[in-house]
Amino acid sequence: MKLAHDAYVNSASSIISRRNALKMISLGLSFSMFAPLLSPASSRAADARETKPLVVYFSMPETNDPNNMTREEENSTVVIDGKVLGNTQYVAMLIQEMTGGDIFRIIPQTPYPTNHRTLVDLAKEEQNTNARPAISGTVNTAGYDVIFLGYPNWWGDMPMILYTFLEQYNLSGKTIIPFCTHGGSGLSNTIQAIQNCQPNATVIRNGYVLSRNRMERAPSGVAEWLKEIGLKK
Ligand SMILES: Cc1cc2nc3c(=O)[nH]c(=O)nc-3n(C[C@H](O)[C@H](O)[C@H](O)COP(=O)(O)O)c2cc1C
Repeated sequence: MKLAHDAYVNSASSIISRRNALKMISLGLSFSMFAPLLSPASSRAADARETKPLVVYFSMPETNDPNNMTREEENSTVVIDGKVLGNTQYVAMLIQEMTGGDIFRIIPQTPYPTNHRTLVDLAKEEQNTNARPAISGTVNTAGYDVIFLGYPNWWGDMPMILYTFLEQYNLSGKTIIPFCTHGGSGLSNTIQAIQNCQPNATVIRNGYVLSRNRMERAPSGVAEWLKEIGLKK
């Protein structure tokens, strides 16, 4: 979906450019908005722990080239000012921008194929074999109390690499806030799946869900959702 230089109508019905919209949305944000989700330990002024949230996501844009995309490539991408982003990547970046958080992208050690049919078949095979694709690089989650976790819906579930992540890190005591982009299935059963992997974490049920056909709604939708869950003024 090409959004570069597009305009969209915001809730006040005025037309603004996407770039300006992102800037506007990012204004006036502070970490005080996270107070409702912080544990008492982390909200103590003297506590040296990181008070920012961490945004962790996996995303698989099926091309890097903004020109001459196939339908499938368009489905899995958003083009912002000529730069190709995955759908989930775009949402992750908005959340980071609106919360002032840190960000970690889950990148597979063995890159996924960008050919749609090959990717779809491989993802199915990974699901059938309950695979745990290895992740390239690590992130220190120790200092974060709030972790946003984003993924595309793959075959009615999280991509298997999300299970790798959830089994590799102990997120006990933390708040996990899921977000998901999809082609029609929504979140499927992923919230419960995350909770099953991390029984001692608080998994927010009201995750953010966005259809790949509605990516232009992401800036206002993410802002409204953050407000709804008490993370935005
Ligand atoms: C391997 C694969 C499997 C998918 N399976 C589903 C599915 O079961 N249900 C659905 O709604 N969308 C499905 N989709 C569509 C993606 O969820 C959707 O395009 C998503 O926005 C892609 O996000 P990304 O660009 O961040 O990777 C699938 C896409 C791929 C590549």
